[in-house]
Amino acid sequence: MGGRNASEDERLSRVAVVTGGASGLGLAICAHLARRGGRVAVLDLDADAAGRAAADLAARGHEAVGAEVDVADRASVEEAFAEVRSALGPVEILVTSAAVSGFVPFEELTADAWARTIAVNLTGTFHCAQAAIGDMAAAGWGRIVTLSSAAGQTGTPRQAHYSASKGGVIALTKALALEYAAKGVTVNTVPPFTADTPLLRTAQESGLLPGSDVLARMVPAGRLGTGDDIAAVCAFLCSDEAGYITGQVIGVNGGAVT
Ligand SMILES: NC(=O)c1ccc[n+]([C@@H]2O[C@H](COP(=O)([O-])OP(=O)(O)OC[C@H]3O[C@@H](n4cnc5c(N)ncnc54)[C@H](O)[C@@H]3O)[C@@H](O)[C@H]2O)c1
Repeated sequence: MGGRNASEDERLSRVAVVTGGASGLGLAICAHLARRGGRVAVLDLDADAAGRAAADLAARGHEAVGAEVDVADRASVEEAFAEVRSALGPVEILVTSAAVSGFVPFEELTADAWARTIAVNLTGTFHCAQAAIGDMAAAGWGRIVTLSSAAGQTGTPRQAHYSASKGGVIALTKALALEYAAKGVTVNTVPPFTADTPLLRTAQESGLLPGSDVLARMVPAGRLGTGDDIAAVCAFLCSDEAGYITGQVIGVNGGAVT
């Protein structure tokens, strides 16, 4: 990857926060936003990995910072966003990719696992959106993209907690879109089906999901998604050109959910 393209810099010289930015889809989204000229804050529970991701972007000529956050913890979110503002300026773009997953039969699902999944995936999205949206409304320009899941559209067996959290993310996205549409802030969600990331591979290695050849047969396009498939769409939704798209569920899933 070369240096930044001047015309792209003009198009998207924005301060972008990506939660869960140290791995998988979040990491790919950071790279795509940076290539479009964004100044990227990589936020993640894994502080070392966030730092490495930001250093990698900086080594490629992009402006980037890494910071630790637990999106489920309000104080941690406020601290991380304060760090971003002092390093890069007011937040203009937010992509929420941080999440936890898990597979467990419903009757074995503990209240703790339910609570933690909702806390990270749904309440974490709420905390981050609330931390960012004031800057966007004040500027009259903002972009929020939430990563939800096909599980939140159709439900997935053994994932009642995860499906409920992601269904909540879809509804939260739509509500925010309507509330902020007249303020220049768009809010959309991308619900992946299967994308080849550490989250997916961990579930496969634990025997909780079938192998990639089996999963690929569930996708009309015949293959798993890649980080680039999803990140390209997220980055477009964060651009000026996407200003008339809001409140939408944009499937990037090879036709798996239509
Ligand atoms: N990969 C898929 O097939 C798939 C399918 C459907 C939905 N999704 C969604 O896409 C998003 C990205 O998934 P991925 O596959 O890249 O996962 P991943 O596990 O590779 O990355 C998730 C990142 O979130 C971070 N994280 C976890 N808990 C956090 C917390 N409390 N605070 C801050 N950061 C935290 C992790 O450290 C990790 O770096 C998630 O929202 C996931 O639910 C992924």
